[in-house]
Amino acid sequence: MSIIESNLDEKRSFSPSKHSKGNANLTKEDLIKLNKQFHTDNNKTWADLANTHILWDKNFTNVVSGEAPFYKWFSDGRLNVSKNCVDRHINKKNSAIIHIAENGERRVLSYSELYAYVNKFSYALSQLGLCCGDRVIIYMPTIPESIVAMLSCARLGLIHSVVFAGFSANALRERIVDCKAKIVITVDAFKRSGKIINSKDIVDNAIKVDCDFVENVIVYENHASLSDKKSRDLVWDDILPTCDINVEPISMSSDSLLFILYTSGSTGKPKGIMHASGGYLLNCILTNKWVFDLKDQDIFWCTADIGWITGHSYVVYGPLACGATILIYDGAPLFPHSNRFWEIIQDNKVSIFYTAPTAIRTLMKVGEDEPKNYNLKSLRILGTVGEPINPKAWMWYYEKIGNGQCPIVDTWWQTETGANMIAPIPGINTLIPGTCTSALPGIDATIVDVNGAQLTQPNQGGDLVIKKPWPSMLTGIWGDDERYVQTYWSKYSSKYYVTGDTARYDENGNIWIMGRSDDVVNVSGHRLGTMEIESALVSHELVAEAAVVSYKHEIKGEAIHAFISLKNNPKNKNELADILREWVSIKIGSIAKPERVSFSDSLPKTRSGKIMRRLLRNLARNERVTGDTSTLENESIIDQLKEIV
Ligand code: PRX
Repeated sequence: MSIIESNLDEKRSFSPSKHSKGNANLTKEDLIKLNKQFHTDNNKTWADLANTHILWDKNFTNVVSGEAPFYKWFSDGRLNVSKNCVDRHINKKNSAIIHIAENGERRVLSYSELYAYVNKFSYALSQLGLCCGDRVIIYMPTIPESIVAMLSCARLGLIHSVVFAGFSANALRERIVDCKAKIVITVDAFKRSGKIINSKDIVDNAIKVDCDFVENVIVYENHASLSDKKSRDLVWDDILPTCDINVEPISMSSDSLLFILYTSGSTGKPKGIMHASGGYLLNCILTNKWVFDLKDQDIFWCTADIGWITGHSYVVYGPLACGATILIYDGAPLFPHSNRFWEIIQDNKVSIFYTAPTAIRTLMKVGEDEPKNYNLKSLRILGTVGEPINPKAWMWYYEKIGNGQCPIVDTWWQTETGANMIAPIPGINTLIPGTCTSALPGIDATIVDVNGAQLTQPNQGGDLVIKKPWPSMLTGIWGDDERYVQTYWSKYSSKYYVTGDTARYDENGNIWIMGRSDDVVNVSGHRLGTMEIESALVSHELVAEAAVVSYKHEIKGEAIHAFISLKNNPKNKNELADILREWVSIKIGSIAKPERVSFSDSLPKTRSGKIMRRLLRNLARNERVTGDTSTLENESIIDQLKEIV
């Protein structure tokens, strides 16, 4: 990769307001001290933090061990993550979970109620003959029961893998098979935008053939009673004990797996990202306290679904381990009206609000001036995640939602990193719309050129890498050590963790994320592998070849343009485009549907048969086709494509 030029030049900046400075969990003095400690003794500083913030059953003596890049954190320490998230807070006055359903129903669980519920469900699970390390798939919407399921797995040392409830039977099956799950926990159905999604039918489809290793499907009757009960099915309420019961949390080694979460990579097969217990929990707690300044009296609403890493770290594990109150909304943002989010913030006095740029852009589009009709004064911190936020959306969020008073924490991180890595600390960093500012204490992020040398000049783009291991780092890819090493460590000879993102520094040393350097697109803040979508498309009987690229989209950040050559000429191309969109939705899920579909006789390929996606990207983005086209096997195809795009 040559040096990437950057043309963005944002001049507005916002110093920390008084509002955000008072009483912060991390003050400027703390930050300076902490950075100094990390500089002097990195491992000792992590160890001190782990001792302060985590409840250990057995103290650790190892801080970071293991052979690079298979690092282990606090490996001889023992803890239970569920005990850290629930048991130690049972006497707290503040609620644990406030749940708002799409129909407006509100349920509140105190920490002691959550404790009782987790214990009951843990007991039910413990009766199924499972062993520590067995895998459990959770295919549920974001409701208290899915959180109870996650925490119960953690209590018993079972490894959960939450699959986003919007994924199709195919995508679900792929994940169930890859991790050989013994149990699937789901709901009969749930409502999204008023429409019923029958999750249980999707599960039945996913495991219809060759899935005998799935011993039971547990169904929470979320919408109606379970019909069509199969012999392996268990109804959630039927297996819960009727009276309170205590289930001793199992003391797990710090490096035992807490969960697997699948994410897209640059091949067709999703990667099962593995996270261990102690290290993951530490960065979750620290970032909730530092970046979100989370306190007992806060109501923290992170809008992410539990099917994504943000839902794991900033809905479930981080905030609960801090003993805070989380709000979860199990519904669509624009249903039944476009001000639903503002209404929820107002009615529940939400103080910290964390969402994705796509949501911000959508809400801005549907009602730019609407927020003023709601009382949003309870808000004190706003956050964004998942993709770069454009300055226009940033300013709207800052002025219309935060009333110019709330710092926006633009948090950069990944499924693999487990927790925020680059983000402002409210009250300390000067904010500039579009930059996630600087790396958090202990995180050694840097930008390097093609030789791995640190870039020193501003506005030169290079690979964003992390130089030292950090506690919440992934511990590998489930069942594929080689892919782990290859994907994340091989580019610079195992010296750095390679994020797959490109970035630049500005004149003040702030980090600006520029985009992905691999074949991954980011649609509405969700990472999708282009290869995955291409393989879904070519599995359709009419498709000969497919290439997928992204282009800039006003709301989604990036959207998908699929270029397709067909086996035969269809009569109606528009109809076929719709059929193929639906096909992708069935194969992967509706988030992966191509926005645009173009058909041509063939695709631009090199003489060695490699599709030149670079050219297709130029076309999809309405750019001039640049660069060398002399290696093209069929140069005339470019003219044909220019006419149809
Ligand atoms: O490209 C970066 C983008 O999202 C990717 C990680 O995606 P995923 O693992 O699905 O996790 C999303 C939620 C953490 C990154 O490699 N990304 C994430 N946060 C930001 C971002 N891009 C720009 N700014 C961010 N704040």
